[in-house]
Formats: sequence, structure tokens, C-alpha cells
Amino acid sequence: MSTQSIELTNVIPPIAAATTRPTYLMCAPKLYDVSYVINPWMAGNIHASSRGRAAQQWQNLYKAITEVADVELVEPQPGSPDMVFTANAGLERNGIVVLSSFFHSERQAEERHFRRWFHDSGYTVLGMPRETPFEGEGDALFSTDGTRLWAGHGPRTAPTSHPYLRKALKVEVVSLHLIDPRFYHLDTCFAPLQGGYIMYYPQAFDVTSRNKIEAFYPSSKRIIINEADAVRFACNAINIRRTIILNDISRELTTQLESRGFHVVQVALGEFLKAGGAAKCLVMRLDPRQLQRKSLLTGKTSRDHLLCLTPPEPMPASSPSVSQTPSPSTDPS
Ligand code: ARG
Repeated sequence: MSTQSIELTNVIPPIAAATTRPTYLMCAPKLYDVSYVINPWMAGNIHASSRGRAAQQWQNLYKAITEVADVELVEPQPGSPDMVFTANAGLERNGIVVLSSFFHSERQAEERHFRRWFHDSGYTVLGMPRETPFEGEGDALFSTDGTRLWAGHGPRTAPTSHPYLRKALKVEVVSLHLIDPRFYHLDTCFAPLQGGYIMYYPQAFDVTSRNKIEAFYPSSKRIIINEADAVRFACNAINIRRTIILNDISRELTTQLESRGFHVVQVALGEFLKAGGAAKCLVMRLDPRQLQRKSLLTGKTSRDHLLCLTPPEPMPASSPSVSQTPSPSTDPS
């Protein structure tokens, strides 16, 4: 596949898809394993997860999600045991996907598999330069009103990726600095929720970042997570309208969320915690209109397409990059 520049015909207009069900990309854990240590959760857990239990937990999550949303599947690939964590595939907005540029070499092989899936599904794919680590939706979450992108940096994503995101996705980017190695991706400690709420673990951020969060979300909208729930990955939540799907959390937090009108669905995801991930890490949000357009053109759904995707074609070693270099990083907040 050659370097792809933005094809305007592929880019869908930024109108809210209010009537369509939200869509997520997932990857079944057929090849899931803890095979290396690239975050503190994986230490001591090499080959300690059960693929059978992981499959069951993933199925439960899949079922909970498909009650309220649609799911697309990408085929797992040998040598990429963390591919189940599709949140790290990239970040999508209005038909454009900014592909991840993984910090750790252990996950870099995933890039070409995800690139192929996005390309074949009709998305315009933009690459981040190799020297600019960026780990997709794991480190970049839109406020629910869509007006800004909260972008984490520190353990994985480099702050130098943020100006690229601003330019490629045409959105205000607010940088947040992650300082606790246990919460190495933004989605492990920060979850924008419907109704203008934010659920987060403040100690995962430096003071400047906490101030930015507090300046945007009034105190009545801040749901502060304590350490006990934070280490159960309470912030790693999938929020679809009033439904919040997440790993097991405390009774107190459940009550707190319910009192704000949320329907809380708990799915035990302990096998994935061994790799440092839970509910939100296992999904990536997609704009369904791009997929609908693609299937209208080809008469196929992406699930049909998956059936003929073996083996994948060899991909070029180097990632195409966003062609224009953005102006030097300035914190936009
Ligand atoms: N083992 C994976 C890693 O360290 C877990 C990724 C979790 N993903 C996330 N979006 N937080 O990269």
C-alpha cells in the first residue's frame, strides 16, 4: 500500500450520527497472551492468563456492548498478542484514522494489520512518524460534546504527537501529563461521560493537567475515583448513552454512577487486567457512516471481508506519515 494522502472524497462531513448505533472495533482474544512486559501490570504475569477464561470474559463484554451498539471485528494476527486492545489501533474522527505509532517494538507489528483493516473498511489512514509515539484512543479521548480532544502523554504517547492530531483531525487538543506508571494510558484513568461528566483518578496526573481538567469540568460534574477502584480499571469504561460498561467496581461507585442516571453493566475482565487492560482498552470507537458507505459501494460488510483476509498481504516496513509538519507544539488549552 502506498503512502496515502487525504482523499477528500473519503472524508465524511462532521455531522452527528444521532440515529445510528455507535460502532466499535474489537478483536477476539484467540491469540491473546501476556508474552512480554511493557507495563507494570504485565510483570509477573507472563503466560499467566487463561485463554479459555479470556475468551469467556471477552464474549461477555461483546454481548454487553452489542445490546447497545454495533461491533466490527478485526482478525487477530500471530505475533501480536496485545491486538485485542483495539483502543490502541488509532484514533478516528469523521472518516480519518490517525494510526498509532507504538512506543514499544513489541506492538509495532500491529500497525500494519490495523492499517490494512482501516484502509479496506474505507477510512482515510494517516500515519504518525515512527519517532513520534502515539497510542491511539488509549491516549486520546474526545470530550462527549466533541469540542476537544484530551490527549495523554508520558509513558507511551509523546507530546509531539499532539500537534499532528490537532492538524489531522481539526480539533482542539488539550495535553494531559500522566505521571503514575500504573496508569500509562489516558483511558486507564480518565473517562469523559455523557451528561458532561468526567470520571477520573486525579493522582494519575500532574498538577497542571489536573487544573486543566478542573477548569473544563465544574466540580458537580467530576466523579473522582479512589485508588481501590482506579486499580480495578474503573475509569477504563465504555459509555454508550446512559450505559456504562466496565470491569467490577465498588458498590459505592456503582451507586454514585446510578444516582447520576447511568445504567452500570459490570463485566469481570481479570484476564485482561493481567496485560494492563480492561473494557475500554478492548474497543475502539468508529464512525459507522464510513462503514455503511463502504458496504454500499462493495455490497459487502467488513465481516464478509474478514473471511477473505488470510493471509494478509506483506506491508511496507515504514509507516507513511502525515505529510505536512504542524507548527511547533504549543499547549492549546
Ligand atoms: N498490554 C497492553 C499494552 O501495554 C495493554 C494495552 C491497554 N490498552 C489501553 N488502551 N489502555 O500496550
